Amino acid sequence: MNMRDSEAVAAQLVEKGYSLAGSEHSADVILLNTCSVRDMAEQKAIGKMRNLAAEKRKFRPGVVLGFMGCMAQSRGKELLDQLPDLDLVVGTQKFHRTAEYITRILEQRDGAICDVAEEIGSEATIREHLLNGKDVKKSVSIMQGCNQHCTFCIVPDTRGKERSRTIPDIVAECRELVDRGVREITLLGQIVNQYGRREFGVENGKTAFVRLLEAVHEVEGLERIRFTSPHPKGYGVDLIQAYVELPKLCESAHFPVQSGSDRILKRMHRQYDVKRFFSLVDQLREAQSGMGITTDIIVGFPGETEEDFERTLDLVRKVRFDNAYVFKYSPRKNTPAATMEQQIETEVIEQRHARLLGQVNEIAAEINQQYEGRTVQVLVEGESRRNTERMMGRTRSNKIVIFEGKERHRGQLMDLRIVRCGSFTLYGDPAIVNLESSCTLA
Ligand code: 5AD
Repeated sequence: MNMRDSEAVAAQLVEKGYSLAGSEHSADVILLNTCSVRDMAEQKAIGKMRNLAAEKRKFRPGVVLGFMGCMAQSRGKELLDQLPDLDLVVGTQKFHRTAEYITRILEQRDGAICDVAEEIGSEATIREHLLNGKDVKKSVSIMQGCNQHCTFCIVPDTRGKERSRTIPDIVAECRELVDRGVREITLLGQIVNQYGRREFGVENGKTAFVRLLEAVHEVEGLERIRFTSPHPKGYGVDLIQAYVELPKLCESAHFPVQSGSDRILKRMHRQYDVKRFFSLVDQLREAQSGMGITTDIIVGFPGETEEDFERTLDLVRKVRFDNAYVFKYSPRKNTPAATMEQQIETEVIEQRHARLLGQVNEIAAEINQQYEGRTVQVLVEGESRRNTERMMGRTRSNKIVIFEGKERHRGQLMDLRIVRCGSFTLYGDPAIVNLESSCTLA
């Protein structure tokens, strides 16, 4: 979501006549978009800004420095007090005003600007994209904010109340993207399956989110749809059924579980239990057997006992996630969990993190191994990042596949035979598939 917000700001600036600098060292304006989910992310951003500020003081007095996003929102003016060389602080509902503020700073030089106010309709302001004609996939922001109030999470504070864009507005953005060459779209929201539930409600047994999926599915030329992230609460049969009925909807789900202990889930205010999570995973796999499922898990939530942690390990072994992001619990300002009793010692958190990660990686490698010898469809996204001589694509289940390809393959759906599997990457061979099909013909 932060990457998408940054892209929209960059696109808005380009539209106003600014151009993207090749590097921060040659830029006249440097904006850091920030995350507040864990303290480490905030400390990194502050550290980076301190370095930039020191450089500005010594060598680059004219450079404009700004913070945007969640930390800008939650710390606001305090950042300007802490970092006197900072020029701009733009909150999460004000991304679209960034260009205006930068112009004002450059023209008038009359001091720093901080805008972290709420703005009605801000959910519909993240819509510009930077497109260079080569982009195969893009993300579209369908809503902002969150009303769930998980006890560990700062997002309801930094992103505000849940608000959704309209279906026609979102579809128009998707259509524009597809007209400009995009083949795959990921719909983004804090809890996507809550999309429009207050604004647009349920119609004919279908939630607003499923109606949105159906509308986006109609966009001609679009090949693949994904979304992130759903929440088990309100994950209805209509959404399971969408995986059966909408062929463009890829068999992959990033489905945050957070813990495998009902007691901890309750303390987290997640509003589902492990049984419900298992049942949803079963239903998803029944709907689409090749479903790739990834998740988020927090270790060391206040009160997490060894037994609770074992339950999380157990859940991971039973579900067998394709991958999981394992987070060390980080107390956040003004969240209920931060002041709960039984905060867990850092050392214990570190140990649990390592144990869980080991288990997750072991299973991920085993799942990857099963791909060997199989033929999969990939959408070719472009050059491999590590080796620009090769091309990279993703399976419908969201696995990265590297293969010997050409620039002309970019944007194509190709069948590849998986010949080798790494822990995170699969290696495919188009030649074998072609050979086989020509043999069959002969
Ligand atoms: N500490 C650690 N991890 C967190 N997350 C959210 N808040 C915290 C926190 N206070 C994780 C959750 C969420 C992901 C985006 O970040 O797992 O799904």
